[in-house]
Amino acid sequence: TNFIALIPAAGSGSRVGERAPKQYLPLAGKMMIYHALRTLCRVRRISKVCVVLAPEDGEWVQHDWSEFAGKIQTFPCGGLTRAESVTNGLKALMAAGQAADEDWILVHDAARPGLSVNLTERLLDELAEDEVGGLLAIPLADTLKRATSHARVARTESRDGLWQAQTPQMFRAGLLLSALEQAPAEITDDASAIEALGLSPKLVLGDSYNFKVTYPQDLALAELILRERMT
Ligand code: CTP
Ligand code: MG
Repeated sequence: TNFIALIPAAGSGSRVGERAPKQYLPLAGKMMIYHALRTLCRVRRISKVCVVLAPEDGEWVQHDWSEFAGKIQTFPCGGLTRAESVTNGLKALMAAGQAADEDWILVHDAARPGLSVNLTERLLDELAEDEVGGLLAIPLADTLKRATSHARVARTESRDGLWQAQTPQMFRAGLLLSALEQAPAEITDDASAIEALGLSPKLVLGDSYNFKVTYPQDLALAELILRERMT
């Protein structure tokens, strides 16, 4: 069985609020998406890294990706939601005979540039023999407040047993595709689709460097982390 990474990179980054989609914003001298690509390409066991682009993407082709030649491939079949982009990419990959049902797919957000090789290796080590697959995640650190509709505290919720989902999320290609094809429209990660089948993905301890760049203020923190790593 192969390990194949799939990076959905067809979003617009509306919450960051820049003109360019956030995956193409500069970060430590490169573009955001470069960092996740570099990490995934450096993981020996991963044979291929597939990038799902928006059909109207005009940015990708303007840059030199030859450093990753032989290991990366693009699919211009992004959809309107993240789940759609992952589904379309996976479908294209399988239709081209480049992924078999039993192959492992690691779905990773282009917007998580802080993923490290070590963390990816941990995920592979913990899941390679797993029946279901799983995801990186970290136990919640903050106290949780349930709000009223007027932004007053209704009550404090227990954070016991609550984890924040990260990516990569790793499942067998065949299972993941059929899960995504049946999944409710509102899912925001791949594990949710697997859960909807009644399966229970494994939680593998991630780290906080692997946060998702979502808001403008996240850019400065990512810059700091990556500048250190790139030197
Ligand atoms: N993504 C995608 N296709 C979509 C929407 C999102 O491939 N239709 C990708 C994004 O490019 C990103 C990842 O899914 O790498 C995580 O999504 P998110 O952080 O929500 O990114 P955006 O959707 O681009 O940002 P926003 O929700 O703020 O518009
Ligand atoms: Mg989004």
